[in-house]
Amino acid sequence: MKPRIFSGMQPTGELHIGNYLGALRGWVEIQHDYEPIFCIVDLHAITVRQDPKQLRENCERVAALYLAAGIDPDRCAVFVQSQIPAHVELAWIFTCTVPFGWLNRMTQFKSKMQQAGSSRDSIGTGLFVYPALMAADILLYQARFVPVGDDQSQHIELTRNIAHRFNNLYGKTFRVPSTKLPTVGARIMGLDDPTKKMSKSSTGPNHAIRLLDPPGRVKKLIGRAVTDSQPGVNWGAPGPGVANLLTVFQAFSGWSDRRMESHFAGMRYGTLKGQVTEMVNSKLAPIQQRYGELVADRPQLREVLRASAERVAPIAQRTLRRAKRRTGLYSV
Ligand code: TYM
Repeated sequence: MKPRIFSGMQPTGELHIGNYLGALRGWVEIQHDYEPIFCIVDLHAITVRQDPKQLRENCERVAALYLAAGIDPDRCAVFVQSQIPAHVELAWIFTCTVPFGWLNRMTQFKSKMQQAGSSRDSIGTGLFVYPALMAADILLYQARFVPVGDDQSQHIELTRNIAHRFNNLYGKTFRVPSTKLPTVGARIMGLDDPTKKMSKSSTGPNHAIRLLDPPGRVKKLIGRAVTDSQPGVNWGAPGPGVANLLTVFQAFSGWSDRRMESHFAGMRYGTLKGQVTEMVNSKLAPIQQRYGELVADRPQLREVLRASAERVAPIAQRTLRRAKRRTGLYSV
C-alpha cells in the first residue's frame, strides 16, 4: 500500500502560479508514488461571501485545471468537499476539541481580520474555525503527507496538534500527518509587492499571473514586476522582486542552483524579464490547451468528481464512525 496524501484548493477566483508552483505541480510529480486524494474545498470558500452560481461553476473549473496540469483521474481521487458530509461532522467535533487560543494564534485569520479593518464585526465565524475544518479534511482520510505551499504550514501544524489532542483524550484515532513543501516555489510573492505572498484575494491589476492568462498579459505583468535600482542580477543578494522572478523561473524550469547562477548572475533586468516571460508562457501553454478541452466536456468532468467522491466516501465514513464512537455520540 502506498502512503496516502491529501491536499486541496479553494474554488475562489482563478488559480495563479503560486497555487501551481506551491502545490499543484508537486501533486502531479508525486501522484504515482502515493495514494492521492485531491479536494476542491467549497466549504472553505464560503467562509467569505461567494456568488452561488460562480462558486458552483468554479468547482468544475478548478477540477478541470487539476486535470489540465496533469493530475491523472484514474490514479487520483478528485472530488468536491461538500459532496462528503463527513467533513462537516468531523469539523464540528474538532471545533469542540480545539482550544480557542490555538485558533486565535493563526496568522492567516489575524491578517484577514486586519484586512477587514472596521468591518471586522461582520466577518463570519467560519473564518475563525476554518482550521478545524481543514484538520477534518486531512484526518478523515488518515493522510500521511499533505503537499502544500508554505502559507499552509501553520494550519497543518495545528492539524497535527488537534490529532494529538484527540488521540490523547479519546484514544488513538487519527494518524498524525506531515507537511510536504516544494523545494523551490513554496512561497511565490506578489509581482506588484514582493514582500507579500501572491494571493487570489489581492485585487491589484499587476499582482498575480493566473494560470489561464494569455501570453500577452503574462508579458505585461512580468514587464511591470517590481525589481530594484541595481543594474543587474546581484546573485549573492538579489532584492525581493528579483529573487521572486528567479524563483518563478527556477520552479518552472527545474534548473539547478548552479545552472541558475551561471546563467543569470549579472544579467540586466530587461533580459531577465524576457526570459522569465518565455519560460512561464511555454509551461502554461499546454495546460491552457488541455484546460480548454476538459472544460468543454462537462459530463466527463462531472463523472470524475462523482466517481471520486463515491470512491473516497467509505474511507471518510470509517474514520468518522470511529471518532463519533470515541466521543460518545449516540448510535444504535
Ligand atoms: P488555497 O486555496 O489558498 O491555496 C491552494 C494551495 O496553493 C498554495 N499557495 C501558494 N504556494 C506558493 N506561493 C503562493 N503565493 C501560494 N498561494 C497559495 C497553498 O499553500 C495551497 O497549498 N486552506 C487551504 C485549502 C485547504 C487544504 C485542506 C489544503 C483546505 N483543506 C487540506 C491542504 C489540506 C487554502 O486555502 O489553500
